Amino acid sequence: MSFPARRMRRLRKSPAMRRLVAETVLTPGDLVAPLFVREGISTPNPIASMPGVVQHTVETATLEAKRLAALGVPAVIVFGVPELKDAAGSGASDRDGIVQVALRSLRDSLGDDVVLMADLCLDEYTDHGHCGLLGSDGSVDNDATIERYAEVAVVQAEAGASVVAPSGMMDGQVAAIRRGLDGAGREEVAILAYAAKYASALYGPFRDAVDVKIAGGGDRRSYQQDPRNLVEALAEVRLDIEEGADMVMVKPALAYLDVISAVSGNVDVPVAAYHVSGEYAMVKAAAGHGWIDGPAVALEHLLAVKRAGASFILTYFAGEVAEAIGG
Ligand code: PBG
Repeated sequence: MSFPARRMRRLRKSPAMRRLVAETVLTPGDLVAPLFVREGISTPNPIASMPGVVQHTVETATLEAKRLAALGVPAVIVFGVPELKDAAGSGASDRDGIVQVALRSLRDSLGDDVVLMADLCLDEYTDHGHCGLLGSDGSVDNDATIERYAEVAVVQAEAGASVVAPSGMMDGQVAAIRRGLDGAGREEVAILAYAAKYASALYGPFRDAVDVKIAGGGDRRSYQQDPRNLVEALAEVRLDIEEGADMVMVKPALAYLDVISAVSGNVDVPVAAYHVSGEYAMVKAAAGHGWIDGPAVALEHLLAVKRAGASFILTYFAGEVAEAIGG
């Protein structure tokens, strides 16, 4: 066999050689762990469609964040499950709302050891399950909603969030939130914009986790992106950065690796990717049947997302994978 026919084999000879030439590195520092905190429970609640993930009490969420920090995971993103929901999603901006209580507890016990992110949306808090306020015709009212988002951002910042992450896909939401935060003297709080968020069928288990059902069997296609579009994702990202986003996100991850790749090649801010609940559930379900090696597939998924260009990854595998790969 003539040179360089066996070069590829030479460079795969031993684990050390493979490590030497590895192009992509995944460390616990690349991971952000989502935490669900539920109001009115005294012990954690398992989520049937997300084996290994629970709805936390404030106390167990705080313990879990400490455990994650010790494993080298630098950030958590907090989602709230309130006891009561209403049309305006009041719980989202209530100073004693569940996310605010959790953020205060996390901040008190962890200080700056973990970056505290707060998902900023109304769907967990509205009785109709939409990400915004409904107008008289029943559709989501963009401009009224972004004013609510600005209020929520300030309350989350006051409770201890270092990063707010608007996930509602309203036009102008980043600008409204930035104005709200700056107006309240919270210039130091960063915005991680869910910039290219698709209307995906992969969010099902998440909606179990936060008890969200969209009224009338509706969907989010009038505000989330159409999976057929890539160029539109670049426009969404550009607009969010112009409005003041400090970091942008692509969501979901694996079915949108082309989007992650295009976005990361186009911007000079960190690009996050969200490996979502359905992506997690598929791995857990197949592994539970013994059909795939779950931990190996999880690692392969996250490596692929990193290789596509993500700076960091929100994933329900954060703790498990951080334990497996070590610091
Ligand atoms: C909206 C929100 C959703 C997710 C994160 N933020 C659900 C939706 O848009 O319906 C999904 C996350 C996941 O599936 O893991 N607040």
